Formats: sequence, structure tokens, C-alpha cells
Amino acid sequence: MTDKSPDKSPIELRVPHKDDGYRLHQLVAQCPPLDENSIYCNLLQCSHFAETGVAAEKNGDLVGFISGYIPPRQPDTIFVWQVAVHEKGRGQGLAKRMLNEIVARDACSDVTHMETTITEDNQASWALFRSFARDRGAELTHREFFEKDTHFGGEHDSEYLLRIGPLAKS
Ligand SMILES: CC(C)(COP(=O)(O)OP(=O)(O)OC[C@H]1O[C@@H](n2cnc3c(N)ncnc32)[C@H](O)[C@@H]1OP(=O)(O)O)[C@@H](O)C(=O)NCCC(=O)NCCS
Repeated sequence: MTDKSPDKSPIELRVPHKDDGYRLHQLVAQCPPLDENSIYCNLLQCSHFAETGVAAEKNGDLVGFISGYIPPRQPDTIFVWQVAVHEKGRGQGLAKRMLNEIVARDACSDVTHMETTITEDNQASWALFRSFARDRGAELTHREFFEKDTHFGGEHDSEYLLRIGPLAKS
């Protein structure tokens, strides 16, 4: 008989490494509406920007990932580039766990604010960052950042910049 009980194996969070790049590319492809980047870009996210990213593994499978970096002119800010959680891992607090993991890193010791950009219709993403801000007792502001026609040639919806902070250390 096949075991149909839910898989309770733990999900391990860790610093990404370059062997994750190709698997990250595949995960993002399975997580619409995320934009797919080149494999090369994913490799850079997993190497140059590893300390400000997080990989989530379950039974050896990559089930979640956050890419991010500290913008060169904003050393107090962690910019979250993409958040991806495989369909099977959603609704269990994994995305929020990964956000908390990044801000707890030594690489983020000078970070007081988090930023990301989101399209207006990505309700899951808005809910995630609102929830993170609420947990931290932090203010969340937003403004249009990359505009559909001006910056995307009409080919992509406008992206709104969210800024969350100051972040209380948890
Ligand atoms: C968005 C995404 C990362 C959320 O991952 P997740 O692990 O399921 O999120 P969590 O379980 O940590 O949820 C965090 C909060 O967001 C809320 N949330 C998550 N998905 C939601 C959805 N689809 N609709 C409404 N709220 C949602 C949760 O209820 C929770 O809020 P709470 O703390 O108030 O209860 C995941 O759905 C995903 O990968 N989507 C496709 C890619 C994408 O859109 N990424 C975000 C853009 S960068």
C-alpha cells in the first residue's frame, strides 16, 4: 500500500552555493508569475550574492529560494529580488522563515530596512511582506518604481517598491 501521509521531513535553510544555480533556474520556472532570469544570472545570485540569499531544501530537493542583495549605495537595506516556494511547500510559513533567516545573517548586521518590488496583482507577495512587517512591528510604505510604459516598454506591469523598517531584531 502506498503511504499517503504528509511528508513531515524537515526543511533545512542554508546559504546557497553555485551548485544551486541551475536548480534555482528550474524552481523559478515552476513559480509563475516570477520572471525567469538566465542561468548565468541565477549562478551569480548563488555565488556573488550567496550571503544575502537562502536556499530551502527538503529531502535533497530545492523547495524554496530567496535571492537578494545589499544595494551598493544603500548599506542599511536588504533588497529582496525574488521569493520562490515550490507549490508543494506553500502555506506553511516557509517564505517568511526564509526572510527572517536572511536578516539574521552577519551579512545583514548593518541592515535596518528591507525593500522589494511587487506588481499590483501579486496578492500572495503583498500578503507575505505585510505579514513580515507586522511581525517585526515595522512600517511598510510603497511607491511606483518601475513604470509599465516608461521602463518596461509596455511589456510588463508596473513594479511597486515596498520599504519595510526599521526592523526590530528578532
Ligand atoms: C508568494 C510565495 C513566496 C509565498 O510562499 P509561502 O511559503 O506560501 O508563504 P508563507 O506561508 O510564508 O506566508 C506568509 C504570509 O503570506 C500569506 N500568503 C501566502 N500566500 C498567500 C496567498 N496566495 N494569498 C494570500 N495570502 C498569502 C500567508 O497567509 C502569510 O500571512 P499571515 O502570516 O498573515 O498568515 C509563494 O506563493 C510563491 O512562491 N509564489 C510564486 C512566486 C511569487 O509570486 N513570489 C513572490 C514575488 S517575489
